[in-house]
Amino acid sequence: MSGQGNSIVEIAEGIDGYELVEQADHSMNLDYIIRRIALRATCELAPGASLGRDARIRNIVGDSKRISIGSHSIIQGELTVFNRDGQIHIGEWCFVGKDTRIWSAKSILIGNRVLIAHAVNIFDNLTHPVRAADRHLQFRQIAKIGHPFIADLGQRQVRIEDDAWIGAGAFVLSGVTVGAGAIVAAGAVVTKDVPAFSIVVGNPAVVVRELSPDER
Ligand SMILES: CC(C)(COP(=O)(O)OP(=O)(O)OC[C@H]1O[C@@H](n2cnc3c(N)ncnc32)[C@H](O)[C@@H]1OP(=O)(O)O)[C@@H](O)C(=O)NCCC(=O)NCCS
Repeated sequence: MSGQGNSIVEIAEGIDGYELVEQADHSMNLDYIIRRIALRATCELAPGASLGRDARIRNIVGDSKRISIGSHSIIQGELTVFNRDGQIHIGEWCFVGKDTRIWSAKSILIGNRVLIAHAVNIFDNLTHPVRAADRHLQFRQIAKIGHPFIADLGQRQVRIEDDAWIGAGAFVLSGVTVGAGAIVAAGAVVTKDVPAFSIVVGNPAVVVRELSPDER
């Protein structure tokens, strides 16, 4: 650890035992283990990825390839894919905090080194139909037989690009792209694209400032 410009990865590689963290670790997650034993769809975990004790994988689409978690990423929240087309792909060295819910009926793509705090909600869909009669019918189906396929749930892809940071309690909604290195403040409700290397706050979230060159 010379402190003379070494990257965090270079420093970590110098720590004894760093190479040992190469196998995916779901050993503390009983829910995942039970689902695997029951031959239910779960997710693809890259070497070094881990599911924490409270993580929940809900693969209602029924295909484990629809949820992938990259190397060294740590998931403590809930990842759900439903409505036939849902998919969630998370890159390397990401963090998804406790009580965070990421629900996809279309496509949620998360880059590398993305930090998502606790109690965040990320949805690429409306979850329920806008029309009350359709919403009730969907609810009856969910209650009795499970999630039905609904053609129009307002599905639009969500992208969270490399090095973004989503603060606690934020919402990221359908169709949004959060640009590289951007910061979504705690409690923000993001309804529109966030420019790279900017900070957005509030409801609806607006840009309060751009990160200076030495903050990037
Ligand atoms: C977004 C954040 C990083 C900004 O930090 P910062 O650089 O010190 O913020 P600034 O002082 O430049 O704030 C700029 C403006 O945004 C406002 N602001 C900052 N965070 C805000 C928030 N969460 N909600 C509403 N407004 C906020 C500030 O009051 C300031 O407004 P002003 O210019 O009118 O005074 C920080 O406020 C935040 O939300 N961090 C998330 C912490 C978290 O969720 N941790 C969980 C573990 S990952």
